Amino acid sequence: ERLPELLRRMPKAELHIHIEGSLEPELIFALAQRNGVALPYASVEDLRKAYAFTNLQSFLDIYYAGASVLLKEQDFYDMAWAYFERAAADNVAHAEIFFDPQTHTARGVAMETVINGLHRACVEAGPKLGVSAALILCFLRHLSEEDAFATLEQALPFRDQFIGVGLDSSELGHPPEKFARVFARCRELGLHRVAHAGEEGPPAYVWSALDVLKVERIDHGVQSAKDPALMQRLAQDRIPLTVCPLSNLKLCVVPSLAQHNLGALLDAGLVATVNSDDPAYFGGYMNENFLQTFAATGLAARQAWQLAANSFEASFLDAAAKRAHQ
Ligand code: HPA
Ligand code: ZN
Repeated sequence: ERLPELLRRMPKAELHIHIEGSLEPELIFALAQRNGVALPYASVEDLRKAYAFTNLQSFLDIYYAGASVLLKEQDFYDMAWAYFERAAADNVAHAEIFFDPQTHTARGVAMETVINGLHRACVEAGPKLGVSAALILCFLRHLSEEDAFATLEQALPFRDQFIGVGLDSSELGHPPEKFARVFARCRELGLHRVAHAGEEGPPAYVWSALDVLKVERIDHGVQSAKDPALMQRLAQDRIPLTVCPLSNLKLCVVPSLAQHNLGALLDAGLVATVNSDDPAYFGGYMNENFLQTFAATGLAARQAWQLAANSFEASFLDAAAKRAHQ
């Protein structure tokens, strides 16, 4: 079998997808019209032209602007459903989906509206598309820990509709330890914990995500390769990294896909996975990430199978469900 067919066909789990980052320009314009929201872009093409990023912050500014069209429960459902259709087409069997409630509650959208819309799509994706799904609530790290606590409080009535918490947005200047207390509370509540660390930030942020926040996975984590002791820790404790190659390329974390360190992370024995991050903004969903990365780096079928196995191992599925995917 040709490698591209293997990459497309193999069942995989996606563990690093921001649902607001799956909002395609066409849907942004359709929702803007439906909701009477004015956009600072004249057309879909005009908006797409703005997708020329130099770093994480240059992306986040446009990503938060795009999310401003989401107002009603149906909007959140429609966004998530569009993602699930793309995921199913890429043979994604399981997805653990980030959402950013503060982006919405700050605009007066109720937590209930956000979670109910997303959760309804997650529930339907299993029987209708063959994609099992769960939600992970992310705190925005450029906001205060107090704001994160208030967000957690607002979400607790819907505790059974999400499985864990994450940490995203502007990394530099906002180290994980800023959120020590709220993550400790989430741990007491039995929530899973993940955090973006080592995307643009230093290995020290990966260490504090592990040791202070006690996260179970690191999102991105590609800067870990600069610290041999950290690499040893990640390998020994089998802490997964949810790597996002096209994101790293588009946000200039790597100069080219050929220079991406995914292969080196695998060679070091890390539980690395491939994910799309914000596919509507970075030029591709899961299979596009696999295809372009393998074409550029020369990774082979052995690594494809390893990445697929890693994606289920790294998931928060229970042991029986993991076995069913082996
Ligand atoms: N990094 C940090 N925050 C984000 C990202 C990312 O890659 N995507 C959406 N929010
Ligand atoms: Zn991300």
